[in-house]
Amino acid sequence: MKLAERLSTLKPSPTLAVTAKAKAMKAQGIDVVGFGAGEPDFDTPDNIKKAAIKALDEGFTKYTPSGGIEDLKDAIIEKFKKDNSITYERSQIVVTCGAKHAIYALAEAILNPGDEVIIPAPYWVSYPEIVSIAGGKPVIIETREKDTFKVSPEQVKKAITPKTKALVLNSPSNPTGSAYEASELMKIAEVAVEKGVLIISDEIYEKFVYDGFTFASIASLDQKIKDLTVVINGVSKTYSMTGWRIGYAAGPKEIINAITDLQSQSTSNATSIAQKASVEALKGPQDSVATMVREFDKRRKFMVEKLNSMPGVSCYNPKGAFYCFPNLSSHFGKSFNGKKINGSSDMSTYLLEEAKVAVVSGDAFGSDEHIRLSYAISAESIRKGLDRIEAALKNLR
Ligand SMILES: Cc1ncc(COP(=O)(O)O)c(C=O)c1O
Repeated sequence: MKLAERLSTLKPSPTLAVTAKAKAMKAQGIDVVGFGAGEPDFDTPDNIKKAAIKALDEGFTKYTPSGGIEDLKDAIIEKFKKDNSITYERSQIVVTCGAKHAIYALAEAILNPGDEVIIPAPYWVSYPEIVSIAGGKPVIIETREKDTFKVSPEQVKKAITPKTKALVLNSPSNPTGSAYEASELMKIAEVAVEKGVLIISDEIYEKFVYDGFTFASIASLDQKIKDLTVVINGVSKTYSMTGWRIGYAAGPKEIINAITDLQSQSTSNATSIAQKASVEALKGPQDSVATMVREFDKRRKFMVEKLNSMPGVSCYNPKGAFYCFPNLSSHFGKSFNGKKINGSSDMSTYLLEEAKVAVVSGDAFGSDEHIRLSYAISAESIRKGLDRIEAALKNLR
């Protein structure tokens, strides 16, 4: 069977792959420390689980409207008003099967063959893949560690061509943990408005911010940029609900309509009981979020300090999300048992095989000098894993 040419360059998610590999090694009895996790290690809070059970008991188990149930849309509208000072109507919200699928459906809804989407690197692994599947062309612009991995308005302006349809912003960022101040977003917004480029603002890590950082949504800055922005968010990370598959997009009616229609011919709707649980997640008590963020903050501080104390390692102090993205490039060119480490992929293979530590190599995120470590694992595992990395790096010659 000849498969679709469209998918000929498709790479399966490397983050899911590394997690699966670490799990498989563990199942064989190997003591692996897995830093691959892209999900909180906390359980979904009880009040949310109970809401799903209630929905089941009440027989809320049938198709829902394609764009999501009204009470969830209303809870999302309320959340935007309360957290981000943005006002949306129901027709500007669509509930999707996870934030990933919101981005996928958005790409399918707006891209014509060859349309360009600007993606600052390091980027979340799925952005370029999704753009390519939808027939668009990912245009990668590099950011620098010394600029705290942030793209400048000048860089964005330079990358814009007549084919540019959208710019992806992910603040706080997976994988770097970098996050934009409102004033920085404003300057990027000015370029987008001047050039008529849509902003895809992935705000899934909004609640995971540290060191007193204040999160700002670009859509909240003024009406003009709001009209040109699709905000992507969801309950996966904030409420430790990755398996429930509920995300959402908010933005201009015609785009949201197109996504809704596309869903009606593809997924039909997000899971009914997971939608009910998400209403409770958004409207119920929020203390579990604060508890989780406090714990992540402790782990983040420990991890950054430890990484920066290792010879030849430098690590940006993340402002958000739950990842560290240390630069290990000063170890490239060294060898272990005659095997040379040429880049981040060799480094992650070395760490897995020799140190029994699973990390994601930076090349998957568009930066070959780095590796990504998640701190959504226990403090004890972090300590053990970092000790192993330190020892493994010392063994390189
Ligand atoms: C930046 C970013 N956006 C979106 C997602 C997808 O979230 P969801 O589980 O809601 O599909 C992830 C998950 O890893 C992510 O890191």
